[in-house]
Amino acid sequence: MTQTTPEAPMRRQRAQVKVRTLRTDRWWLVPFLTFLGLSSFLVYGVWAIIDNSIFVEPYIAPFASPCLAAATCPEGAQLFGWAPIGDWYTLSPGLLILALPGGFRLTCYYYRKSYYRSFWLSPPACAVQEPHGKYTGERRFPLIIQNVHRYFFYAAIVIGLVLAYDAVLAVVHKPLGLGSWILIANAVLINAYTLSCHSCRHITAGRLNHFSRHPLRYRAWTFVSKLNAKHQPLAWASMFSVMGADFYVRMVAKGIIAFPYA
Ligand code: FES
Repeated sequence: MTQTTPEAPMRRQRAQVKVRTLRTDRWWLVPFLTFLGLSSFLVYGVWAIIDNSIFVEPYIAPFASPCLAAATCPEGAQLFGWAPIGDWYTLSPGLLILALPGGFRLTCYYYRKSYYRSFWLSPPACAVQEPHGKYTGERRFPLIIQNVHRYFFYAAIVIGLVLAYDAVLAVVHKPLGLGSWILIANAVLINAYTLSCHSCRHITAGRLNHFSRHPLRYRAWTFVSKLNAKHQPLAWASMFSVMGADFYVRMVAKGIIAFPYA
């Protein structure tokens, strides 16, 4: 009878890289570009929250939609003419909803990877030394909070539908307007990114044992899985599309872009 030795306890630390890097390629390029891309989004987001040019008939800036404040949302900008936040609120309407799409992106599995690498350098790339002595992953506070991502997903679905509604409304009222089609492209990308979410894939059929007994969920899962394979490019494309669409609407609202089919 052969004897087995008890297994060594599982090590809970990452492999240590003793030299600065084992890489010979330009490993820093991706984290650096990621840092620039995400920083530009943050800087733009701060400016968009301060800026008040959120609406020009029939376009509403995506960063301010749904527009819920009675005092700071022009009548045409309010969703179904509904502004539940009373006159007491006089700050930017975008500030009211920022936590929903912002929280969704902040806790996204892909964005987590990208900002852990490019901002926190933990580690900046494979086989590169990291500046932190300790690694506890996402098992403890505060990073365990990232698990709320699945709940932000539901909020993101609502925001995606609102943006799609805004875009369709713009096309109906101004079919030849460039802004209408910019909003449509943005709504498509935002909703594709939302549906490509890993939580969405899990929700559609993550715990099923028999796909054959749930053909509709299986079809939904198949569709979401295809999008899910493109989650990273969709994250970037939708991030730039929402910035671009928002910036375009604000430029039209300010009169800076004023050609006939704007
Ligand atoms: Fe990226 Fe859900 S995993 S949005």
